[in-house]
Amino acid sequence: MEKKTFKAKKRTDYKSPDFTVTNIDLTFELDDTKTKVTTVAHYVRLTQDKKASLVLDGEELVLKSVKVDGVGAKYKEHDNKLEISSVPDEFDLYIENEINPTANTSLMGLYKSDGAFCTQCEPEGFRRITYFLDRSDVLAKYRVKIVGPEYGCGVLLSNGNLIEQGKIKNRPFAVWEDPFPKPSYLFALVAGTFDIVEDTFKTKSGRNVDLKLYVDRGAALRGQFAMQCIKESMKWDEDRFNLEYDLDNFKVVAVDFFNFGAMENKSLNVFNSVYVMVDPDTATDTAFYNVQSVIGHEYFHNYTGDRVTLRDWFELSLKESLTVFRDQEFSSDCANRALTRLHAINVIRSSQFAEDASPMAHPVRPEQVMEMNNFYTVTIYDKGAEVIRMIHTLIGEEKFKKALSYYLEKYDGQAVTIEDFLVCMEEKGEIDLTQFRRWYTQAGTPNVDAKWHYDRENSKLVLKLSQHTNPTPDQSEKQPFFMPIRISFLDKDGHEVRPKELSFKDYIVLNESEQEYTFTLRENVLPVLLCDFSAPVKLNAPYTTENLQHMMSFSADPFIKVDSAVNMQKQYVHENIKNLKNGAAVTDPIELISSYRQLLSTVDENTDLILLNETMKIQSVSSLMETFDHIEIDQLSAARTMLVNKIACALEKEFKNLYSKVRASSANYSVDNMGRRSVNNSALHMIVTALCFKNEHSKASDLVMNHYKNSNNMTDKLQALTDATHFDLACKSAIHDDFEKRYSNNALAFDNFFRANATVESYKAIDNVKALMKHPSYDGNNPNRVRALVGALALSNPVALNDISGDGYRLLCSEVKRLNSINASVAARILTPMLSFSRFDSQRESMIRQELKNLMALPNLSKSIYEKVDAALKER
Ligand code: TRP
Ligand code: ZN
Repeated sequence: MEKKTFKAKKRTDYKSPDFTVTNIDLTFELDDTKTKVTTVAHYVRLTQDKKASLVLDGEELVLKSVKVDGVGAKYKEHDNKLEISSVPDEFDLYIENEINPTANTSLMGLYKSDGAFCTQCEPEGFRRITYFLDRSDVLAKYRVKIVGPEYGCGVLLSNGNLIEQGKIKNRPFAVWEDPFPKPSYLFALVAGTFDIVEDTFKTKSGRNVDLKLYVDRGAALRGQFAMQCIKESMKWDEDRFNLEYDLDNFKVVAVDFFNFGAMENKSLNVFNSVYVMVDPDTATDTAFYNVQSVIGHEYFHNYTGDRVTLRDWFELSLKESLTVFRDQEFSSDCANRALTRLHAINVIRSSQFAEDASPMAHPVRPEQVMEMNNFYTVTIYDKGAEVIRMIHTLIGEEKFKKALSYYLEKYDGQAVTIEDFLVCMEEKGEIDLTQFRRWYTQAGTPNVDAKWHYDRENSKLVLKLSQHTNPTPDQSEKQPFFMPIRISFLDKDGHEVRPKELSFKDYIVLNESEQEYTFTLRENVLPVLLCDFSAPVKLNAPYTTENLQHMMSFSADPFIKVDSAVNMQKQYVHENIKNLKNGAAVTDPIELISSYRQLLSTVDENTDLILLNETMKIQSVSSLMETFDHIEIDQLSAARTMLVNKIACALEKEFKNLYSKVRASSANYSVDNMGRRSVNNSALHMIVTALCFKNEHSKASDLVMNHYKNSNNMTDKLQALTDATHFDLACKSAIHDDFEKRYSNNALAFDNFFRANATVESYKAIDNVKALMKHPSYDGNNPNRVRALVGALALSNPVALNDISGDGYRLLCSEVKRLNSINASVAARILTPMLSFSRFDSQRESMIRQELKNLMALPNLSKSIYEKVDAALKER
């Protein structure tokens, strides 16, 4: 059998295009299986080479006609290209082709989502619509005519302004014109029947923007919150970055079939319905919080992404990291800063560190890519946002704002690079980022070691920092990074002391392999390092348990507070994994318990409940895993479970007290209610844990059943459902029956049911997933269902996935195999955790290898899966 290979593209092979397009006129005659696309585009030669032929991208197109300036042209169709030779320097190209939206299960290009037509063109989906220069540095003005299907259709939408509508032979049509030149990946079309939520926004210069949100019929109420978020985003971008919306309308459409979260198409954002449709009965507080964040994210792309776009896909982080930074600041200002920061840090420390330690490790600006869809990663998005945040730390808010405005004005309407952005930051930030650029070129997580001693005689505290980054598959040698380490000092009473060396700033710069810093301090105080997680690194500091307790009680920094508790948890888990292996007795987390008891004893109406909840949270298995190079999953999960049991039992009384004391004021979402419910539900969870540990299952069951019955919102119901399912309580079947009755016709709400069953921390999850794949509400072609069931097993349940039977691997790979030909990008995403087999024992490693080799032998193997499996198998 012939071995399948695909070739990677290299960043340094970038060539500017030979031709560009100034205007494109698209006509769609919509039909479920035979949509006719007619394109007239004005091409202009850019290269000096008069013989260069025009080479366009196209996939899965049925070509009908090609004309250059009205005359039939000579062309060749080969390898997903259309090549037209001997074209003039400037000409109109006419192309007619057909596409089949119904057969399109990849959800890239034009496809059907339930009844509606919609498009997804980023990164390379436009080539599935028509032959075009489908690259982000070709910017054209679009005029789009949409003719509805024969059977009729509610609305016909595209980017920009509606300039005409009417009927052609009983078929409705609409013409849209977008005044802003854009690359093809920002094109969008939606046609279908929706309910519309309408509103207006008055911009700071007094213009009225017409806002429309398109949702499933009958679901307008569930779109109200998202509409508020749109207005809030528009206002925030004016207030914080002085950016005013630039068109007279802004449209958001929610669809059920979508590969990612949402898409920033100019003035026509398309959303996964998860990030739009919420009400207290069907969506959790977290879901509401996420809607605000994703609505913000896509809206903020209007400047960082749309008005200033990318030269090529290697520059993806230019728009994504900056926009993530912006949406994080939005959530910080408009929801809760500490919670937003802690979430972001958690993504870095559980998922991004894992990616850095995997065969797919890549820098924020990758050097080579086979399938671009594989690079919408936590490194490009979230680590990239941390890198932007470091620049913000280094130059400060005012210079950062100046530099951003300068960048957006200078490059308006252009396709640029990360380098262009950095030069603006350097100029207006008055800083040299030469060494800092290594964050964009070197993959891997830096390890920072700290040591200090107090020199009493001279009243000096001497701090020594060193950094080291392990090799990644693409790079064996790493140079030191340039990073700000935020630092403060706590005296023994818990007061902050500031040495004169920190009078102008609250950070020091680490930019060598080893560095020494001296601080003038009258007494020996505790250095508190990496405040606010000021750099995306693993810090190794010799804090004693006492130090950690002290920081947890007294630090004003939410991250330090929470991280001190987290570090105590980690210490316990590490220690007891050893004990478990040596057959030694397990220990009690005495200090953690006393700190938590202390914390709980002070809860009153002034307590920041969100912060309390984050501090009390026991780290997930996934994030504990990232504190080990070699993962012993069974011992890790056992040690973690012991930790939870011991804390729950020791503080049962306190949790009961908390459970009865802290309640939300209503079912509605608000940050305050979210904090209240999160504490209330965590308390319930701990009480149930204690009861089950003591074998008082029927008490636990009654408690959970009551919680469920008394709940008037999804957040509480889901807590009951999850506890009943995970502890296998007697009330489980009653809750399952009720939940199915209430929600099995609401796909998004019911995804919670799939997730709760897929995340049971034992083999049981595998059986649950297998059984639920046959559930009438399950649809193996819908990415949201797949992510809620198989995806949850793969990405949120390392214990079951890595079960020693190998059944988790086999189940995941059989799904990946099925999805390979349906939706390769979703398949490749859920496969991710299996790439890191070298971090497990040899028995698991060989089982995974075998499964990956089987995938590699698939006759129709997709590029997405090939790239990842190839990287994994050629490693080590
Ligand atoms: N640019 C989108 C964002 O806001 C990401 C995205 C949406 C995407 N849909 C996609 C990326 C499909 C690749 C494929 O982050
Ligand atoms: Zn984005």
